[in-house]
Amino acid sequence: MKATRDSARAHLFDFAVVSNEQVAEGAWCMVFKSEVAALLAPGEFVEVSVPGDPSQVLRVPLSFSRADAEAGTVRIEYAVVGDGTRRLSLMRPGDTSTLVGPCGHGWRLPGGEGRVLLVAGGIGLPPVLAAAEMLAAAGRTFDAVVGAQRGSKLVGVDVDLLREAASADPASRVVVCTDDGSLGRAGFTTDAMAELLAERSYDAVLTCGPTVMMAGVARLAEGAGIACQASLERMMGCGFGACSCCNVAMRDGTSRSCCMDGPVFNAGEVAW
Ligand SMILES: Cc1cc2nc3c(=O)[nH]c(=O)nc-3n(C[C@H](O)[C@H](O)[C@H](O)COP(=O)(O)OP(=O)(O)OC[C@H]3O[C@@H](n4cnc5c(N)ncnc54)[C@H](O)[C@@H]3O)c2cc1C
Ligand code: FES
Repeated sequence: MKATRDSARAHLFDFAVVSNEQVAEGAWCMVFKSEVAALLAPGEFVEVSVPGDPSQVLRVPLSFSRADAEAGTVRIEYAVVGDGTRRLSLMRPGDTSTLVGPCGHGWRLPGGEGRVLLVAGGIGLPPVLAAAEMLAAAGRTFDAVVGAQRGSKLVGVDVDLLREAASADPASRVVVCTDDGSLGRAGFTTDAMAELLAERSYDAVLTCGPTVMMAGVARLAEGAGIACQASLERMMGCGFGACSCCNVAMRDGTSRSCCMDGPVFNAGEVAW
Protein backbone atom coordinates (compact mmCIF):
# COMPACT_ATOMS: atom_id res chain seq x y z
CA MET A 1 0.00 0.00 0.00
CA LYS A 2 1.23 3.50 -0.85
CA ALA A 3 1.19 5.20 2.56
CA THR A 4 0.64 8.92 2.09
CA ARG A 5 -0.55 11.77 4.23
CA ASP A 6 -3.76 11.85 2.20
CA SER A 7 -4.59 8.19 2.65
CA ALA A 8 -4.64 8.93 6.39
CA ARG A 9 -7.55 11.36 5.84
CA ALA A 10 -9.98 8.59 4.92
CA HIS A 11 -11.47 6.70 7.83
CA LEU A 12 -14.19 4.12 8.33
CA PHE A 13 -17.51 5.61 9.47
CA ASP A 14 -20.95 4.21 10.22
CA PHE A 15 -23.91 5.74 8.46
CA ALA A 16 -27.67 5.49 8.95
CA VAL A 17 -30.16 6.15 6.17
CA VAL A 18 -32.53 9.08 6.78
CA SER A 19 -34.31 8.91 3.42
CA ASN A 20 -33.80 7.16 0.09
CA GLU A 21 -36.14 8.01 -2.76
CA GLN A 22 -36.29 7.88 -6.53
CA VAL A 23 -35.90 11.44 -7.87
CA ALA A 24 -35.74 10.89 -11.65
CA GLU A 25 -35.78 8.09 -14.21
CA GLY A 26 -33.08 5.68 -12.97
CA ALA A 27 -31.81 8.05 -10.24
CA TRP A 28 -32.18 7.98 -6.46
CA CYS A 29 -31.37 10.47 -3.72
CA MET A 30 -30.23 9.26 -0.31
CA VAL A 31 -29.70 11.36 2.79
CA PHE A 32 -27.74 9.64 5.53
CA LYS A 33 -26.45 10.58 8.94
CA SER A 34 -22.73 10.11 9.53
CA GLU A 35 -19.87 11.80 11.32
CA VAL A 36 -18.11 12.07 7.94
CA ALA A 37 -20.45 15.02 7.20
CA ALA A 38 -18.20 17.33 9.22
CA LEU A 39 -15.12 16.37 7.21
CA LEU A 40 -16.24 16.38 3.56
CA ALA A 41 -15.20 19.19 1.20
CA PRO A 42 -17.02 19.85 -2.12
CA GLY A 43 -15.88 17.49 -4.88
CA GLU A 44 -14.56 14.79 -2.54
CA PHE A 45 -16.27 11.41 -2.42
CA VAL A 46 -17.10 8.49 -0.15
CA GLU A 47 -16.77 4.73 -0.67
CA VAL A 48 -20.01 3.12 0.44
CA SER A 49 -20.39 -0.47 1.59
CA VAL A 50 -23.80 -1.66 0.39
CA PRO A 51 -25.39 -4.42 2.45
CA GLY A 52 -27.27 -7.38 0.96
CA ASP A 53 -24.55 -9.47 -0.74
CA PRO A 54 -21.64 -10.69 1.42
CA SER A 55 -19.77 -11.84 -1.72
CA GLN A 56 -19.45 -8.17 -2.84
CA VAL A 57 -16.51 -6.79 -0.88
CA LEU A 58 -15.82 -3.70 -3.01
CA ARG A 59 -17.40 -0.41 -1.99
CA VAL A 60 -19.23 1.95 -4.35
CA PRO A 61 -17.53 5.34 -4.91
CA LEU A 62 -20.07 8.18 -4.76
CA SER A 63 -19.84 11.97 -4.81
CA PHE A 64 -22.19 14.06 -2.69
CA SER A 65 -24.24 17.15 -3.41
CA ARG A 66 -24.41 18.49 0.14
CA ALA A 67 -22.67 17.73 3.44
CA ASP A 68 -24.29 19.48 6.39
CA ALA A 69 -21.82 19.47 9.28
CA GLU A 70 -24.36 20.90 11.74
CA ALA A 71 -27.07 18.34 11.01
CA GLY A 72 -24.49 15.58 10.49
CA THR A 73 -26.12 14.59 7.19
CA VAL A 74 -24.84 13.88 3.68
CA ARG A 75 -26.92 13.92 0.50
CA ILE A 76 -25.96 11.70 -2.44
CA GLU A 77 -27.65 11.10 -5.78
CA TYR A 78 -26.93 7.97 -7.74
CA ALA A 79 -27.95 6.20 -10.91
CA VAL A 80 -28.88 2.55 -10.57
CA VAL A 81 -26.56 0.91 -13.11
CA GLY A 82 -25.60 -2.44 -11.58
CA ASP A 83 -25.97 -4.66 -8.55
CA GLY A 84 -24.31 -2.36 -5.98
CA THR A 85 -26.41 0.69 -6.79
CA ARG A 86 -29.54 -1.50 -7.11
CA ARG A 87 -28.99 -2.78 -3.55
CA LEU A 88 -28.28 0.79 -2.42
CA SER A 89 -31.70 1.83 -3.75
CA LEU A 90 -33.29 -0.86 -1.54
CA MET A 91 -31.93 0.62 1.72
CA ARG A 92 -34.67 2.04 3.92
CA PRO A 93 -34.71 4.79 6.59
CA GLY A 94 -32.98 3.43 9.69
CA ASP A 95 -30.84 0.91 7.76
CA THR A 96 -27.14 1.15 8.58
CA SER A 97 -23.81 0.34 6.94
CA THR A 98 -20.29 1.74 6.73
CA LEU A 99 -18.37 4.02 4.40
CA VAL A 100 -14.80 5.17 3.90
CA GLY A 101 -14.18 8.90 3.54
CA PRO A 102 -13.39 11.65 2.90
CA CYS A 103 -11.71 10.36 -0.29
CA GLY A 104 -9.77 12.28 -2.93
CA HIS A 105 -9.23 15.93 -3.71
CA GLY A 106 -12.22 18.08 -4.55
CA TRP A 107 -12.86 21.41 -6.28
CA ARG A 108 -10.42 24.26 -5.78
CA LEU A 109 -11.94 27.72 -5.40
CA PRO A 110 -10.97 29.42 -8.70
CA GLY A 111 -8.67 32.42 -8.47
CA GLY A 112 -9.91 35.88 -9.45
CA GLU A 113 -13.23 37.51 -8.72
CA GLY A 114 -14.99 36.96 -12.03
CA ARG A 115 -17.87 34.71 -13.00
CA VAL A 116 -17.45 30.91 -13.05
CA LEU A 117 -19.19 28.52 -15.46
CA LEU A 118 -20.45 25.16 -14.17
CA VAL A 119 -21.28 22.38 -16.64
CA ALA A 120 -23.04 19.21 -15.43
CA GLY A 121 -24.14 16.21 -17.46
CA GLY A 122 -26.41 13.39 -16.24
CA ILE A 123 -25.51 12.03 -12.82
CA GLY A 124 -22.48 14.38 -12.78
CA LEU A 125 -24.84 16.95 -11.27
CA PRO A 126 -24.32 16.19 -7.52
CA PRO A 127 -20.67 17.33 -7.28
CA VAL A 128 -21.48 20.33 -9.49
CA LEU A 129 -24.23 21.34 -7.06
CA ALA A 130 -21.66 21.06 -4.25
CA ALA A 131 -19.38 23.35 -6.32
CA ALA A 132 -22.24 25.85 -6.78
CA GLU A 133 -22.83 26.02 -3.03
CA MET A 134 -19.07 26.40 -2.45
CA LEU A 135 -18.98 29.34 -4.90
CA ALA A 136 -22.11 30.95 -3.38
CA ALA A 137 -20.63 30.66 0.13
CA ALA A 138 -17.49 32.42 -1.14
CA GLY A 139 -19.58 35.23 -2.67
CA ARG A 140 -18.65 34.20 -6.23
CA THR A 141 -21.04 34.57 -9.17
CA PHE A 142 -21.63 31.72 -11.59
CA ASP A 143 -23.69 30.47 -14.52
CA ALA A 144 -24.57 26.81 -14.96
CA VAL A 145 -25.43 24.47 -17.81
CA VAL A 146 -27.19 21.26 -16.79
CA GLY A 147 -27.83 18.55 -19.36
CA ALA A 148 -29.58 15.18 -19.50
CA GLN A 149 -30.53 12.74 -22.24
CA ARG A 150 -34.21 13.57 -21.65
CA GLY A 151 -36.32 15.53 -19.19
CA SER A 152 -37.35 12.47 -17.18
CA LYS A 153 -33.69 11.77 -16.34
CA LEU A 154 -32.97 15.25 -15.02
CA VAL A 155 -32.73 15.46 -11.21
CA GLY A 156 -35.05 18.47 -10.98
CA VAL A 157 -34.62 18.91 -7.24
CA ASP A 158 -30.89 19.50 -7.77
CA VAL A 159 -31.59 22.04 -10.51
CA ASP A 160 -33.86 23.90 -8.07
CA LEU A 161 -31.08 23.90 -5.46
CA LEU A 162 -28.61 25.11 -8.09
CA ARG A 163 -30.92 28.01 -8.99
CA GLU A 164 -31.27 28.79 -5.28
CA ALA A 165 -27.46 28.89 -4.88
CA ALA A 166 -27.24 31.24 -7.89
CA SER A 167 -30.11 33.46 -6.78
CA ALA A 168 -27.98 36.06 -4.94
CA ASP A 169 -26.84 37.22 -8.40
CA PRO A 170 -29.80 38.44 -10.52
CA ALA A 171 -27.62 38.24 -13.65
CA SER A 172 -26.81 34.56 -13.24
CA ARG A 173 -28.09 32.05 -15.79
CA VAL A 174 -28.94 28.40 -15.27
CA VAL A 175 -29.51 26.72 -18.63
CA VAL A 176 -31.18 23.31 -18.75
CA CYS A 177 -30.75 21.29 -21.91
CA THR A 178 -31.74 17.81 -23.07
CA ASP A 179 -30.42 15.77 -25.98
CA ASP A 180 -33.95 15.14 -27.28
CA GLY A 181 -35.37 18.60 -26.51
CA SER A 182 -38.00 17.18 -24.11
CA LEU A 183 -37.03 19.78 -21.49
CA GLY A 184 -35.28 23.12 -21.84
CA ARG A 185 -32.98 23.84 -24.73
CA ALA A 186 -32.55 21.03 -27.30
CA GLY A 187 -28.93 19.95 -27.73
CA PHE A 188 -25.78 19.10 -25.81
CA THR A 189 -24.35 20.97 -22.85
CA THR A 190 -21.37 21.91 -25.02
CA ASP A 191 -23.71 23.74 -27.46
CA ALA A 192 -25.15 25.81 -24.60
CA MET A 193 -21.65 26.35 -23.21
CA ALA A 194 -20.39 27.66 -26.58
CA GLU A 195 -23.26 30.18 -26.66
CA LEU A 196 -22.49 31.42 -23.15
CA LEU A 197 -18.77 31.71 -23.96
CA ALA A 198 -19.66 33.91 -26.93
CA GLU A 199 -21.64 36.27 -24.69
CA ARG A 200 -19.83 36.35 -21.35
CA SER A 201 -16.37 36.04 -19.91
CA TYR A 202 -15.48 33.55 -17.21
CA ASP A 203 -12.58 33.07 -14.80
CA ALA A 204 -12.98 29.29 -14.70
CA VAL A 205 -15.05 26.32 -15.81
CA LEU A 206 -15.91 23.42 -13.46
CA THR A 207 -17.42 20.28 -14.96
CA CYS A 208 -18.63 16.75 -14.16
CA GLY A 209 -20.48 14.34 -16.41
CA PRO A 210 -19.85 11.69 -19.05
CA THR A 211 -16.20 11.58 -20.16
CA VAL A 212 -17.07 12.47 -23.76
CA MET A 213 -18.92 15.58 -22.52
CA MET A 214 -16.09 16.66 -20.22
CA ALA A 215 -13.59 16.23 -23.05
CA GLY A 216 -15.72 18.62 -25.15
CA VAL A 217 -16.03 21.07 -22.26
CA ALA A 218 -12.26 20.95 -21.68
CA ARG A 219 -11.63 21.65 -25.39
CA LEU A 220 -13.98 24.65 -25.43
CA ALA A 221 -12.47 26.05 -22.22
CA GLU A 222 -8.94 25.62 -23.54
CA GLY A 223 -9.92 27.29 -26.83
CA ALA A 224 -11.26 30.25 -24.85
CA GLY A 225 -8.16 30.35 -22.61
CA ILE A 226 -10.15 29.58 -19.45
CA ALA A 227 -8.88 27.33 -16.64
CA CYS A 228 -11.01 24.21 -16.33
CA GLN A 229 -11.42 21.67 -13.52
CA ALA A 230 -13.03 18.31 -14.31
CA SER A 231 -14.24 15.65 -11.87
CA LEU A 232 -13.34 12.29 -13.40
CA GLU A 233 -14.73 8.79 -12.85
CA ARG A 234 -12.74 5.59 -12.99
CA MET A 235 -13.47 2.05 -11.90
CA MET A 236 -12.23 1.93 -8.30
CA GLY A 237 -11.10 -0.92 -6.08
CA CYS A 238 -10.09 0.66 -2.78
CA GLY A 239 -10.63 4.44 -3.10
CA PHE A 240 -7.54 5.32 -1.08
CA GLY A 241 -4.46 4.60 -3.16
CA ALA A 242 -3.83 0.92 -2.43
CA CYS A 243 -4.76 -0.95 -5.62
CA SER A 244 -3.52 1.23 -8.53
CA CYS A 245 -6.59 0.43 -10.62
CA CYS A 246 -7.90 3.96 -11.14
CA ASN A 247 -5.13 5.51 -13.23
CA VAL A 248 -5.75 8.63 -15.30
CA ALA A 249 -3.46 9.21 -18.30
CA MET A 250 -2.02 12.71 -18.39
CA ARG A 251 -0.90 14.76 -21.39
CA ASP A 252 2.72 14.73 -20.21
CA GLY A 253 2.82 10.92 -20.49
CA THR A 254 2.52 10.26 -16.75
CA SER A 255 -0.46 8.76 -15.02
CA ARG A 256 -2.15 9.81 -11.79
CA SER A 257 -4.47 8.10 -9.40
CA CYS A 258 -8.11 9.19 -9.73
CA CYS A 259 -8.92 8.35 -6.10
CA MET A 260 -5.94 10.17 -4.56
CA ASP A 261 -4.82 12.90 -7.00
CA GLY A 262 -8.42 13.40 -8.21
CA PRO A 263 -11.23 12.96 -8.79
CA VAL A 264 -10.96 16.67 -9.66
CA PHE A 265 -8.12 17.40 -12.12
CA ASN A 266 -6.98 20.39 -14.14
CA ALA A 267 -8.72 19.45 -17.38
CA GLY A 268 -5.84 20.85 -19.45
CA GLU A 269 -3.46 18.26 -17.97
CA VAL A 270 -5.63 15.22 -18.76
CA ALA A 271 -5.05 13.14 -21.93
CA TRP A 272 -8.71 13.00 -22.96
C1 LIG B 1 -15.15 9.47 -7.67
C2 LIG B 1 -16.44 8.90 -8.19
C3 LIG B 1 -17.63 9.51 -7.89
C4 LIG B 1 -18.83 8.99 -8.36
N1 LIG B 1 -19.99 9.65 -8.04
C5 LIG B 1 -21.15 9.15 -8.47
C6 LIG B 1 -22.38 9.82 -8.12
O1 LIG B 1 -22.39 10.84 -7.42
N2 LIG B 1 -23.54 9.28 -8.59
C7 LIG B 1 -23.53 8.15 -9.38
O2 LIG B 1 -24.59 7.72 -9.79
N3 LIG B 1 -22.40 7.52 -9.72
C8 LIG B 1 -21.22 7.98 -9.28
N4 LIG B 1 -20.06 7.31 -9.60
C9 LIG B 1 -20.15 6.05 -10.39
C10 LIG B 1 -20.52 4.90 -9.45
O3 LIG B 1 -19.45 4.66 -8.57
C11 LIG B 1 -20.79 3.61 -10.27
O4 LIG B 1 -21.93 3.81 -11.06
C12 LIG B 1 -21.03 2.45 -9.33
O5 LIG B 1 -19.82 2.07 -8.70
C13 LIG B 1 -21.59 1.26 -10.07
O6 LIG B 1 -21.70 0.19 -9.15
P1 LIG B 1 -22.70 -1.02 -9.42
O7 LIG B 1 -22.29 -2.15 -8.51
O8 LIG B 1 -24.12 -0.58 -9.32
O9 LIG B 1 -22.45 -1.40 -10.91
P2 LIG B 1 -21.43 -2.48 -11.59
O10 LIG B 1 -22.23 -3.77 -11.64
O11 LIG B 1 -20.15 -2.49 -10.84
O12 LIG B 1 -21.29 -1.83 -12.96
C14 LIG B 1 -22.40 -1.45 -13.78
C15 LIG B 1 -21.93 -0.50 -14.85
O13 LIG B 1 -21.37 0.69 -14.28
C16 LIG B 1 -20.02 0.88 -14.69
N5 LIG B 1 -19.23 1.32 -13.52
C17 LIG B 1 -18.97 0.62 -12.41
N6 LIG B 1 -18.20 1.32 -11.56
C18 LIG B 1 -17.94 2.50 -12.16
C19 LIG B 1 -17.19 3.66 -11.79
N7 LIG B 1 -16.49 3.75 -10.66
N8 LIG B 1 -17.18 4.69 -12.65
C20 LIG B 1 -17.86 4.63 -13.80
N9 LIG B 1 -18.58 3.56 -14.22
C21 LIG B 1 -18.62 2.52 -13.41
C22 LIG B 1 -19.56 -0.50 -15.15
O14 LIG B 1 -18.57 -0.39 -16.16
C23 LIG B 1 -20.82 -1.09 -15.72
O15 LIG B 1 -21.05 -0.64 -17.03
C24 LIG B 1 -18.84 7.80 -9.16
C25 LIG B 1 -17.64 7.17 -9.46
C26 LIG B 1 -16.45 7.70 -9.00
C27 LIG B 1 -15.17 7.04 -9.34
S1 FES C 1 -9.07 2.92 -6.37
FE1 FES C 1 -7.41 1.85 -5.50
S2 FES C 1 -5.73 3.13 -6.05
FE2 FES C 1 -7.45 4.27 -6.68
